[in-house]
Amino acid sequence: MEINASSGDNINGTFVYLTYDGDTQIHEGVQGVPQSLKSQMNHVLSNNEFDSKAGSTVTLLGGEGGKAIFIGLGKKKNKTDHGIREAGALLVSSHNKRNGTEYTVNMHGFSAHDVLLFAEGAMLRDYSYELYKSKKNDEKQDLRVRLNCDDDILESVSTGLTRLEAITSGVHLSRDLGNCPPNDMYPMEFATRAVAWAKQYNNVEVTIIGYEEAVRLGMGGLVGVGKGSDRKPCMVIFKLNGDKKGPHPVLVGKGITFDTGGISLKPGPSMDEMKYDMGGSATVFGTMQALAALEYEGKVVGITCMAENMPSAWAQRPGDVITTLSGKTIEVLNTDAEGRLVLADGLWKAGTDFEAEYIIDFATLTGACVIALGHEATGLWSNDDDLLKKIQSAGNDVGELAWPMPLLPAFEKEMTDSQIADTRNLGSGRWGGANTAAAFLKQFVPYRDADEEEQVPWAHMDIAGTYWGAKTNKMVGHGATGIHVRTMVRLITGE
Ligand code: BES
Ligand code: ZN
Ligand code: ZN
Repeated sequence: MEINASSGDNINGTFVYLTYDGDTQIHEGVQGVPQSLKSQMNHVLSNNEFDSKAGSTVTLLGGEGGKAIFIGLGKKKNKTDHGIREAGALLVSSHNKRNGTEYTVNMHGFSAHDVLLFAEGAMLRDYSYELYKSKKNDEKQDLRVRLNCDDDILESVSTGLTRLEAITSGVHLSRDLGNCPPNDMYPMEFATRAVAWAKQYNNVEVTIIGYEEAVRLGMGGLVGVGKGSDRKPCMVIFKLNGDKKGPHPVLVGKGITFDTGGISLKPGPSMDEMKYDMGGSATVFGTMQALAALEYEGKVVGITCMAENMPSAWAQRPGDVITTLSGKTIEVLNTDAEGRLVLADGLWKAGTDFEAEYIIDFATLTGACVIALGHEATGLWSNDDDLLKKIQSAGNDVGELAWPMPLLPAFEKEMTDSQIADTRNLGSGRWGGANTAAAFLKQFVPYRDADEEEQVPWAHMDIAGTYWGAKTNKMVGHGATGIHVRTMVRLITGE
């Protein structure tokens, strides 16, 4: 898609008008609209022939061959940022059904903020994963969108569009990684892509901790999960502006490139979807891409814990006890609760090797979180109320909801109740499974002091329900959503 802003000259094609419930005539401003089309639009609005409900559209034809689309925004008093983003997404998602690849959108009377929201929705929705289709959709001409807005906001809209392009590239990268089939996306492949990616920028660095080194360093969680696969595990570390001094965010991702469950094998139905069990790492990689493209000048580190969870003669067994990087031992009671094992090493590394201002982990961690929150919100746990509020509010700002969930001592106690090791990877029952998982992770967040009074501020985001299959998310079609790249950009850059 080619999208730009203009205050006057238009491209040919279809005119797009955003209408509110109760509008009786179109907002003037766009040049070159055929008179007959204008009259028709005004006729439709004044006679209430289009209800302007949010999410509804209608196409109108003028006598002189001109064409227009109305996109409803609902009642003006109920206007939300997200509603405008959704209108932008709707233009793109309904595009295939219309012949005409050039649109002039009348955004006169709208603020720069609103114009950019519309653009954001359109840009996010302009994505499809066609790498494995032998018949490419080449003939589908690229969409051209001209945002026609008031002269005085043109400059800020243009700057904003460049910014949105950078952010969208991060979201789309995350989706590409999440959608990639698991035969082509495995730990070293993720690492190879990260190394190749880093070459584009001179302020990013990617390092890989390979299998042997992980064994040597004592990353028993990562090694335990990944050793059953021929395609061995690794940890990939991203550094943006690594030379900068001082505290900085550290993002940690669960990167299970395929989760069969291991020896505790999963049932068959929908097992294919477990290719997106690396969504947490895709979020981290996508965020690094967005920040690098934005030329963000602060320091940010990303740690992705990559492994394939397979059953084999080399696989770990239920009953095994592993020793993690922290020195803590874990009794592995179910090999399908593997995300928390790789994260145990990732979180420890995040808090000990870096000057972490805070740590945020992203993980498609539990089916229980999908039971609790469906596909509508990410589960959010934190040992720091301030961090939790900041993440939640950044998420609200960008329309990616994160819902606070409890970190209770009782859940932690349940997880440490192993007969033979320091802790265990399974609670006593299924109940509260997303919370017991979060409590488990908390044990691997380092303290800043020997008395263990000040733990590094940390938040855990369970994206099992929101990284995939969110049908109410208008910003995406089928597959990986690329959620939380935008939340992180908002949180980290403050913009
Ligand atoms: N990757 C799954 C969680 C998951 C489930 C993600 C559905 C996306 C959709 C995770 O590794 C897992 O299998 N968790 C188990 C934990 C249980 C064994 C304690 C689960 O949720 O059932
Ligand atoms: Zn699992
Ligand atoms: Zn998993």
